[in-house]
Formats: sequence, C-alpha cells, structure tokens
Amino acid sequence: MSKDRSGSRAAGVLWEGVQRLLAQCPAAEPDGTGGASVVDLGGGTGGLAVRIAALGHRVTVVDPSPDALAALERRSAEAGVTDRVRAVQGDAADLAVLLPEAGADLLLCHGVLEVVEDPLAALRSAHAALRPQGLLSLLVAQWTGAVLARALSGHLAQALELAAGPDHRWGPADPLLRRFDRASATDLTERAGFTVTAVEGTRAFSDLVHSSCAESESDLALLHRLDAEAARSEELLSAAGHLHVHARR
Ligand SMILES: C[S@@+](CC[C@H](N)C(=O)[O-])C[C@H]1O[C@@H](n2cnc3c(N)ncnc32)[C@H](O)[C@@H]1O
Repeated sequence: MSKDRSGSRAAGVLWEGVQRLLAQCPAAEPDGTGGASVVDLGGGTGGLAVRIAALGHRVTVVDPSPDALAALERRSAEAGVTDRVRAVQGDAADLAVLLPEAGADLLLCHGVLEVVEDPLAALRSAHAALRPQGLLSLLVAQWTGAVLARALSGHLAQALELAAGPDHRWGPADPLLRRFDRASATDLTERAGFTVTAVEGTRAFSDLVHSSCAESESDLALLHRLDAEAARSEELLSAAGHLHVHARR
C-alpha cells in the first residue's frame, strides 16, 4: 500500500467512527487534564491508542504480546504521550483482574474476536470493564468482503472456501479463526449484553481498488468518499473487509 493510501486509512471511516464515539465521552480539558478513560483490548502496537492519547484521553492497552507492548511504549514516547498511555500485558479472559470493574468510558476491541478462542467470553469481559452506558468500538473482519478481495486477486479456491467453509476461513493456514457478517457480529454483541447503535463497513473500496487505479490526490479523495458511501449503505456494506460495530453497555 502506498504512503497516500496509508494516509487515507488514517483519515478513513474507522477513525471517523472512533472520533464520533470519543465525542460522546468526557472531553479532555484544554490544559491536558481530564479526558475519557479508554481501554484498547488487543491494542497491539498502539497505532490507535497513541492517536487517542494525543487527543488528551487516557488509554490502557491490554495485549498478551510483550513485543507489541514494547513497540507501543516506543511509539507513545515518540509521540510524547507516555503519561496518558498504560501498557498492560494480559488476555481478554483476564480483563476482570487486570482492570477496575465498570471503569472505562470507551473500550476498543479491534481485530481481536477473529483470533481469540472464545469471542463471546471476550465481549462479556469487555462489557464488565465498561461503566454503565459506556461505549464499545468493535472491529471485526467480514467474510463477504474477504471473498470479493480473494476472488478479485485471482485466489478463486480460497474465495470459495471463504464463502462456503466453516467459520469463513480460506483454509487451515488462515491466521483468522473466524470471520463475521453484519448479522453474526450484531448477534454476538447483543448476546454479550450490549445495545448495538451502528454498524459501518470500513475501506470497502480502498481494499478492492488496485493502487495503480487510484494514485492522484483527487482519485484518493474519491476513493475515500466511496468508502464513506459504502460504510452506511445496507447493500454496499457487504463489500467491506471489516465491520465497525458501535454499541452501548
Ligand atoms: C490483528 S491484531 C489487532 C491489533 C490492533 N487492535 C489493531 O486493530 O491494529 C490482534 C491483536 O490481538 C491480540 N490478542 C491475541 N489474542 C488475544 C487475547 N486472547 N486477548 C487479548 N488480545 C489478544 C494480539 O496480540 C494482537 O495484538
């Protein structure tokens, strides 16, 4: 992916959605105090956590990978937000012992339900970590978008396996244990006790259009508008590689 496309990812539907959720949380004061209490479950190297901390919020990243957390610490030092970012090594299943119960205003769970053993248990732990009315930002891989992407890149057998196989994996070497669609992601979130308030597709077109087809600034701007259009369209949503579920405890 080119630099410009990474830029469009940074300014994309997902970040806009996260910012809308943050806008519903306690605001950071101009003097840098206050702000929301945010948990990034499976936050990895902290790309999103550091951006959120830069807005004045306090972010706790919980992740089992010591390497990812070391990268997070370097990243937050470079961005000058170490006082607002806390790295906690741990697993979704241990959230109750790692964090105060019902303490978070917003919990991010991005790219995690596809890799954990028990996604419902992970979401239930997330629910318990949020204050009443606290918000969930859930990002999951969508199988319909993955089918399109695989087919368009010529991996037809994998596309078929993704479409028809159990858990919508492209084969035994697939690093993801499962993929979701709008119905299954909504159902799981509700079974964990949340009220779903929105489901948006992310990067529906940026992930499908070959970089050579959209190189200029104006093409990238059009691509972003197409992604934004697809994010909220019932029909185009299924082309997206990921779904961003907004929910309330
Ligand atoms: C695909 S990465 C997503 C990273 C980040 N959230 C993002 O969106 O860029 C999945 C992350 O989940 C973490 N992870 C794996 N198993 C986990 C578990 N049982 N509980 C919490 N996090 C887990 C991994 O260490 C990794 O950082």
